Amino acid sequence: MPSVSKHSFDPKASAKPLLAALSGKTLARPPVWLMRQAGRYLPEYREIRAKAGSFLDLCYDPELATEITLQPIRRFAMDAAILFCDILVVPHAMGQSVAFKEGEGPVLGPVRTLSDIARLDVGAVVERLSPVYLAVEKIAKALPPETALIGFAGAPWTVATYMVEGGTSRDFLAVKSLAYSDPAVFEQLIDRLVEASIAHLSAQAAAGAEVLQIFDTWAGILPSKQFEKWCIAPTRRIVETLRKQAPGIPIIGFPRGAGVGYQRYAGETGVDAVGLDTSVPPDWAAETLQGKVALQGNLDPVLLVAGGAPMREAALGIIDALGGGPFIFNLGHGVVPPTDPDNVVDLLSTVRGG
Ligand code: CP3
Repeated sequence: MPSVSKHSFDPKASAKPLLAALSGKTLARPPVWLMRQAGRYLPEYREIRAKAGSFLDLCYDPELATEITLQPIRRFAMDAAILFCDILVVPHAMGQSVAFKEGEGPVLGPVRTLSDIARLDVGAVVERLSPVYLAVEKIAKALPPETALIGFAGAPWTVATYMVEGGTSRDFLAVKSLAYSDPAVFEQLIDRLVEASIAHLSAQAAAGAEVLQIFDTWAGILPSKQFEKWCIAPTRRIVETLRKQAPGIPIIGFPRGAGVGYQRYAGETGVDAVGLDTSVPPDWAAETLQGKVALQGNLDPVLLVAGGAPMREAALGIIDALGGGPFIFNLGHGVVPPTDPDNVVDLLSTVRGG
């Protein structure tokens, strides 16, 4: 029995399985897309990437970003396209220096003091990211009618980790020290990121994104009180405002590593769906979370590298546990570069019962 939709009926939506699942319907076969479905594991991506100046140049080029977004749709007929971009365009648009160094990941000029934070220009975000919204418009026009378009942003906490650390971190010493020792200063940063994320997500919705996903990749590194303060509360503020600015648009939250914190996250942020990381037991999630929200996940990306029977059995086990309620098949984190695209074909036919 389909459950009651949280959203008003949209005749277009019924043609898109992803939107049906997000509105609370249980489908005979789950819609499927993969986090990082566009990227270095695809030869056609590597070809464009080799010709482009830098990764950020790709994000700011509407034609190339459109082309890269469509690559996995053409190859695999995923049920959703996710805009090709990055969560770090937001700090970049606020005026922080951001570069992607080969083999090193992102490198940012760290933001640590009140005056660093005061220099961040939230008002400039939508203007500076206008090429990204142009890409959203182009993609929306190019997609097949059954394919939904997902826009996204990083959650304030996760984006703040990169901004304060100056890049990826092992121990998160700088960002946690700031949050614990100087919460009033850290809050100023989080507040700016809440505002910037709302503006960025709203602009993507206005340009044609039909679903929004909030990536909280580093939600799992905080003790529970801080998880509540720096992950749940800011996400709730973003969701509440988007409900007014972009009514009816479903929102997926991905609090990676939140553990038992998934329960509070699902109950308190107001999101429509929650992305499960690889470690969450699907039967626990079905029992504890699926009555409140639709679920998405959570095959280990390394099983997609391994392929074969172990991958297929794990995928079917996940569908067995979660397919009895509103569910979207995905990975528990992004596709990794050594993945063989043929394994993606095999995974999709397994999920689709072929
Ligand atoms: O999912 C998609 O297909 C859409 C595109 C997308 C990218 N990044 C492209 C990308 C999305 C949704 C992201 C989100 C993102 N970016 C997150 C949250 C999700 C997650 O993976 O945890 C985070 C933490 C980032 C920050 C980021 N971007 C890092 C740490 C790195 C370097 C590590 C890496 O994988 O290279 C990036 C670069 C990046 N973002 C690449 C791509 C395709 C690789 C860039 C390249 O081609 O060299």
